[in-house]
Amino acid sequence: MNVRPAIARMSAYSPPLEMRNQGDYLLLDFNESTLPPSADAVAAIRAYLEGGRVQAYPAYGNILERLGGYTGRPAAELILTNGCDQAIEIVERALLEAGDEMITAVPTFAMTTQVAQTIGARVVGVPYGADLRYPLEAVLAAVGPRTRLIVVTNPNNPTGTSIDGAQLRRILTARPGLAVLVDEAYYEFSGRTFAALLDEFDNLAITRTFSKAFAIAGLRLGYAMSNAAFVRELYKVRGPYDVNMLAVKAAEALLARPEPWQAYVHDVMQVAKPRVERFFREHGVRYYPGDANFLLVQPASVPDAVDYLKAHGILVRLMRPPVEHCFRLSIGSSQDMGRFMETYGNYLSQAGA
Ligand SMILES: Cc1ncc(COP(=O)(O)O)c(C=O)c1O
Repeated sequence: MNVRPAIARMSAYSPPLEMRNQGDYLLLDFNESTLPPSADAVAAIRAYLEGGRVQAYPAYGNILERLGGYTGRPAAELILTNGCDQAIEIVERALLEAGDEMITAVPTFAMTTQVAQTIGARVVGVPYGADLRYPLEAVLAAVGPRTRLIVVTNPNNPTGTSIDGAQLRRILTARPGLAVLVDEAYYEFSGRTFAALLDEFDNLAITRTFSKAFAIAGLRLGYAMSNAAFVRELYKVRGPYDVNMLAVKAAEALLARPEPWQAYVHDVMQVAKPRVERFFREHGVRYYPGDANFLLVQPASVPDAVDYLKAHGILVRLMRPPVEHCFRLSIGSSQDMGRFMETYGNYLSQAGA
């Protein structure tokens, strides 16, 4: 096959799934929920399966109106996607041509770069500083004549750090004709959103997911928000049935009764995360504070710490340069993080012994 040179040059985005397919690990490596979705959501999935409509193509009903109630944006400004990954993909495919430039601060979520490369766009990665603050001035300085898109992951994965509205405004107004994608995959945990800026800026798109706080990563549901004219363009890029009905039925239930996932978010951010941070401080373990349901942790030896955790049934995520001196720890329920702290405490005492 004569694969396009842009594809031949790339490598696949292959997250480390091997260990997750075997054994009964506590999964603190992909920033998912450590608890399953609410009983209502599971019941809605089951009801759809048993309702005799699986053989029919999806008919999405009024899910966009319901999502509008949640996001505060009209249905015409929303498009559902097969995970946030696909939301990122359709935004980039709608905006970028081969040879265009996309700017992103690095390290960040790999999918944004992956998609741009499939298009043959050039990805300009502007490094975060050692303090992991967003490199705003360097991002603005990198804008050139071929820059079409700036992607901001907020809070960023894996640094956990965020930008504020004043910083985003400078990016949005950096140059006429420049588009800005803000990925708010961790919005429910951070409580930060730039959705209100959609009223002010027609060069802004925002992506989100049902994979994290809503706990349906396995069903693949995300969405993009932007002005209605751009959303109409996005519908040309997405397939008509790319989103499956089980995900939509679960989402309806999760939006109709948010208390269970809201309680989970509260437990993660107000109970478990402060406890884990206190544990690290008390044990002299360096970590980088952030706004999402994960932390970058800097142990004396990453391989030792990660291997010990794995041997004791807990998976965390190895990082690539420039943060290879850290592992990324997802924060789950306070009960699950109690197990993590007990295990890590044992590791520290045997490592110090
Ligand atoms: C910043 C960011 N965006 C998007 C995603 C993927 O979301 P989804 O599972 O909805 O494709 C992730 C998953 O880790 C992420 O960290």
